[in-house]
Amino acid sequence: MMAPRGEALFEVEAYRVQRISEEDAPLLRKLGERCSDHLELHYGSPVDPEQLVRDLVTDLPPGKSLADKFGLGLFESAGRLVGGIDVVRDYPEPGEWYLGLLVLDPRHRAQGLGTKLMVPLVHWLRGQGARSLRLAVSEHNEAGRRFWTRQGFEPVKQVIAEFGNKQSVFHVMRRTLEE
Ligand SMILES: CC(C)(COP(=O)(O)OP(=O)(O)OC[C@H]1O[C@@H](n2cnc3c(N)ncnc32)[C@H](O)[C@@H]1OP(=O)(O)O)[C@@H](O)C(=O)NCCC(=O)NCCS
Repeated sequence: MMAPRGEALFEVEAYRVQRISEEDAPLLRKLGERCSDHLELHYGSPVDPEQLVRDLVTDLPPGKSLADKFGLGLFESAGRLVGGIDVVRDYPEPGEWYLGLLVLDPRHRAQGLGTKLMVPLVHWLRGQGARSLRLAVSEHNEAGRRFWTRQGFEPVKQVIAEFGNKQSVFHVMRRTLEE
């Protein structure tokens, strides 16, 4: 039996988007295994089995606290975790939110789910007071960059960053959330 979860923040198709907590670590480890392709792209290999737990539960950008971090999970009705979203409030500046991660289980990609998910996510972010959204996409992630460009994100700058044992160029992108 799954422990009862909190209220859904929003829904997309049959999936509920809910806050992720420490208790979801076992589900995050399993999702991380299924998403090792994406994690390797950023962190090199081998991927730390705790990587998604860190991404969605504990990791913070400089100067932020856990009160600003929203690790969200996309859950099927049976409680299976099929995607993760990490957003941080007011980073790097007030009104701008930072999307640290959006990842779907490979079996749920390229069917329009990511595109559909962005609609209620943007709506929810606006409700939280976000006026713009920023993210960084790896030079090794062409499909990701196409996805964000279709979502209205525009290039801001390129930065070099090192995660795990891998150094990459990241394209920093942002879009306004104002209507
Ligand atoms: C990026 C990501 C979240 C996008 O979600 P998604 O559900 O796969 O995206 P969509 O299906 O809405 O669109 C992606 C592709 O599917 C195609 N597509 C859209 N609707 C489709 C449908 N109904 N049937 C088949 N293909 C479809 C799109 O044309 C697009 O193709 P392209 O990117 O090769 O040009 C997801 O692919 C993912 O988790 N990828 C790995 C992690 C990642 O790269 N995250 C983002 C970078 S930080």
